[in-house]
Amino acid sequence: MTRPEELEKRLNLLVKFGGLISTETNLTKLLELIADQVKRMLNGDRCSVFVLDRQTNELWSKIAQGMQQTEIRVPFKKGIAGHVAATGQITNITDAYTDPRFNHDLDMMTGYRTRSILAVPLKDAAGHIIGVFEVTNKEEGVFDGEDEGILQLMGSLAASAIENAQLYESLSNSQLETIYRLAVTAEYRDQQDTAIHLRHISEYSALIAQGMGLPEREVENIRYASPLHDIGKVGISDAILLKPGKLTPPEFEEMKKHTLYGAKILANAESTLLQIACKVAASHHEKFDGTGYPAGLKGEQIPIYARIVSVADVFDALCMPRVYKPKWDPDKAREYIIEESGKSFDPEAVSAFARIYGDVIKIYATSDGKTTIIPGITKELHKHSI
Ligand code: C2E
Ligand code: SIN
Ligand code: SIN
Ligand code: FE
Repeated sequence: MTRPEELEKRLNLLVKFGGLISTETNLTKLLELIADQVKRMLNGDRCSVFVLDRQTNELWSKIAQGMQQTEIRVPFKKGIAGHVAATGQITNITDAYTDPRFNHDLDMMTGYRTRSILAVPLKDAAGHIIGVFEVTNKEEGVFDGEDEGILQLMGSLAASAIENAQLYESLSNSQLETIYRLAVTAEYRDQQDTAIHLRHISEYSALIAQGMGLPEREVENIRYASPLHDIGKVGISDAILLKPGKLTPPEFEEMKKHTLYGAKILANAESTLLQIACKVAASHHEKFDGTGYPAGLKGEQIPIYARIVSVADVFDALCMPRVYKPKWDPDKAREYIIEESGKSFDPEAVSAFARIYGDVIKIYATSDGKTTIIPGITKELHKHSI
């Protein structure tokens, strides 16, 4: 390959790399993807991504290629990787076995023979070390200054993707399951199909958040917090909640309290997700123009999570049958949402909704309620809860 061709190939890979990794939230898959791309870009024969575990003070790597899916752990400060994590310095080594810092343990375990190593620190936005990238055994010769620059660039792109995926993993499945079961408890009395309704609220809200350009992390927060918006309905009597006709003004006043009950149930939570759910439960009936309830908040005083869920909630309430009203045609519901832009709803949430409406309709048309938003939990859960 000539030099300009080589540069062009690298530039293309780099652009592709940025796009690829920004959409992967599964940490294991993300690390595999990064390792594969780095190896190709730098013509090394292996790339390891070491992630710093601050609790145990170890560097771990899930992807020692050739040794599938084994998790390796080395003490922080040990080896070249440890040196880089401790000093924050990029380190370029032409012959590992003559370097006293090199840790031979991994080669002994894997039978791999390390020769050249290029290692860079991975830093988060605040400049803290979160891990180390190592690429080994350059195909021809040794790693040069240009390789260093490229690996540093890839490292800074990868760091934020890794941070995102780590945060996402901290939402454990059991936490999500508990939250989902709570949501079911709240909804099963007044919904004909709880599974469908919860799924709609969750997916519509996530789509709107994404359409508004919120970071991946916030999109996931909204996806999992939104199903709890009506948790406060557990405090509303059957006589009101299940009344087939229109509510009298005093009955509606009582109904409005579901927002206050919800906020109370979720108040002072430890987890970020429940703190967000609390805001949503409290404020999902506030209106952008200040005419909503319970507090009459206006515009940006209403938490963004609640402004988003409010659009998803009203759209779904209109499109689903209720004891007090038949269901609307989705296109009519869409028009209603757009008419209410700036009145009931945040104009930015409405325009995002209008942009992603095609995806909303797909979910509306295909969801059979057999699956839930939590992997491994099926609609069977609902049968037993009713
Ligand atoms: P929901 O049935 O899930 O409705 C959520 C929100 O969707 C409503 O909040 C309202 O903003 C919108 N929505 C639902 N149906 C219609 C409709 O036919 N026309 C219009 N323009 N908007 C609609 P809202 O009004 O604050 O009501 C909150 C909750 O209070 C409702 O949740 C429902 O559980 C209850 N509710 C409201 N009105 C009645 C009623 O007349 N009878 C009964 N039984 N319950 C009601
Ligand atoms: C080291 O970081 O010292 C060695 C790790 C490796 O073998 O890749
Ligand atoms: C719902 O049942 O999800 C909507 C009811 C409400 O927003 O109060
Ligand atoms: Fe509500």
